[in-house]
Amino acid sequence: MSAIKKISVLISGRGSNLASLLDAIDAGRIQGRVVRVLSQRADAAGLQHAEKRGIPTTVVDVKAYPTRDAFDAALGDAIAVDTPDLVVLAGFMRVLGAAIVQRFAGRMINIHPALLPSYPGLHTHQRALADGVKWHGCTVHFVTPEVDVGPIVGQSVVPVLPDDDEASLAARVLDAEHRLLEDVVRWFCADRLSVDGQTVTLRDNAESTAEPPTSCQHPRD
Ligand code: GAR
Repeated sequence: MSAIKKISVLISGRGSNLASLLDAIDAGRIQGRVVRVLSQRADAAGLQHAEKRGIPTTVVDVKAYPTRDAFDAALGDAIAVDTPDLVVLAGFMRVLGAAIVQRFAGRMINIHPALLPSYPGLHTHQRALADGVKWHGCTVHFVTPEVDVGPIVGQSVVPVLPDDDEASLAARVLDAEHRLLEDVVRWFCADRLSVDGQTVTLRDNAESTAEPPTSCQHPRD
């Protein structure tokens, strides 16, 4: 049995992915604990999810730093204080430079609201609707210096329904995000992920030969 992993979570806003992760940890479904929640915005509502549970929070105010490199260095130092095993970008809406990404290479993951490599960047649901795609979803990937292209750990697929608007599609994807992020963090904390170039392998996947469920096509354990 591997030791309990220390997890730092970075957020920028409402923090529903953070809240869902904390619920999963509280319920004993993940062998990890969140040691700190960080944000570049003091008004990130999601910080309250940590404060309510007595988890330390740190705001590294982006406005206090003259350059992107200076901000990244301060953020990196604030993360490093806890020597986390895993850094989760859970709705962290700021592009990080190569230096901080290298500093946490192999232990920093990001959740993105689209099926990468389709729809990197912003406004993913709006773009998916405009293109008339029939399937959409979310991705968790390791973070590399190029935005939204790191090795993919898992993806969840949701249908795009005829009456969908941006809000209804976003809500369906968000629900999938919560489940996917929980799965990926659980796998990471159990030392079940290995990365070879762009390919991430999930070890000891009991259901790898089973039919994947239609609404959730990342490997299940
Ligand atoms: C989520 O949909 C997440 O995938 C997205 O921001 C939202 C945060 O929601 N992240 C990105 O777009 C990163 N490029 P939350 O604060 O409720 O977890």
